Amino acid sequence: MFAAVVLFVFTCLTASRADHHQPCHSHNMSGLMSVTSFRGEVRAVGAYTYDSMGRKLRFRSNESHPTNSSIGLDLLMFFEEGILYEIDSKNQSCEKKKLQMTLHPLDIPDDAKYSSTVTSGSSSIEGEGMKVNVWVGKLTSIKGSYSMSVTMGCLPVTTMYFTETTSFLFSNLDVELEIKDPDLLVVPSFCHGKPLEDTPEGTVNSFLNEFISLDTAVHRILIPSHLPPPC
Ligand SMILES: *[C@@H]1O[C@H](CO)[C@@H](O)[C@H](O)[C@H]1NC(C)=O
Ligand SMILES: *[C@@H]1O[C@H](CO)[C@@H](O)[C@H](O)[C@H]1NC(C)=O
Ligand SMILES: *[C@@H]1O[C@H](CO)[C@@H](O)[C@H](O)[C@H]1NC(C)=O
Ligand SMILES: *[C@@H]1O[C@H](CO)[C@@H](O)[C@H](O)[C@H]1NC(C)=O
Repeated sequence: MFAAVVLFVFTCLTASRADHHQPCHSHNMSGLMSVTSFRGEVRAVGAYTYDSMGRKLRFRSNESHPTNSSIGLDLLMFFEEGILYEIDSKNQSCEKKKLQMTLHPLDIPDDAKYSSTVTSGSSSIEGEGMKVNVWVGKLTSIKGSYSMSVTMGCLPVTTMYFTETTSFLFSNLDVELEIKDPDLLVVPSFCHGKPLEDTPEGTVNSFLNEFISLDTAVHRILIPSHLPPPC
């Protein structure tokens, strides 16, 4: 009898724990994403459209947004197929690349580890707090790790990526749970028939790496290599 009760309690505990600690998948979303490197040199703010079932993401940064060092990027990513398009609508040009890493800030990887549940702001004052689950894990194609905070309804709020050279904070703002313009997830006609570019040895293409490469480029411009690096 005692054993049966213990077994029952144990089963219930593990069941409820498992429910809590299973990475969830976000909904279809449209919103704004802001990106900041911890060195503070690369910032981007832009609109995104995300199809969570089809695993497609479009991100277009707004160069005129009043943040210093705003950068212009237009990316269309197909995570299922492992394809990335870098789009330049102004001169109607397009580069098609293979994705080496499909991690991105809007979806918790299936192998992420549950870390904790925390409340930003206040947990006792109505409407003044936000409870999030924190998920952590390692990056796959480059050395580094990530930490994602996600609301109880599975809405990603912030994602931090830590690599050997730099770190980034992605914030998810003004979210709506729908795809407002499905055409944004369709490959533009001027990209049709583009050959897949070769990936140079040692290059990793991913959503995160688009920002890492810009951060490195900006860093080289701002800090000439003959000067000692800032500590
Ligand atoms: C998400 O968007 C896709 C593409 O528009 C659609 O096929 C799918 O049904 C949507 N999923 C949900 C849960 O609304
Ligand atoms: C870009 O940012 C500027 C300045 O904040 C704003 O006026 C403009 O509407 C934005 N454009 C888009 C496409 O969001
Ligand atoms: C951002 O730009 C403003 C106006 O150009 C300038 O005054 C300010 O120093 C800049 N801040 C940083 C951190 O570069
Ligand atoms: C389009 O413009 C970008 C820079 O704005 C440039 O790097 C690229 O080579 C141009 N492509 C074509 C086909 O003109």
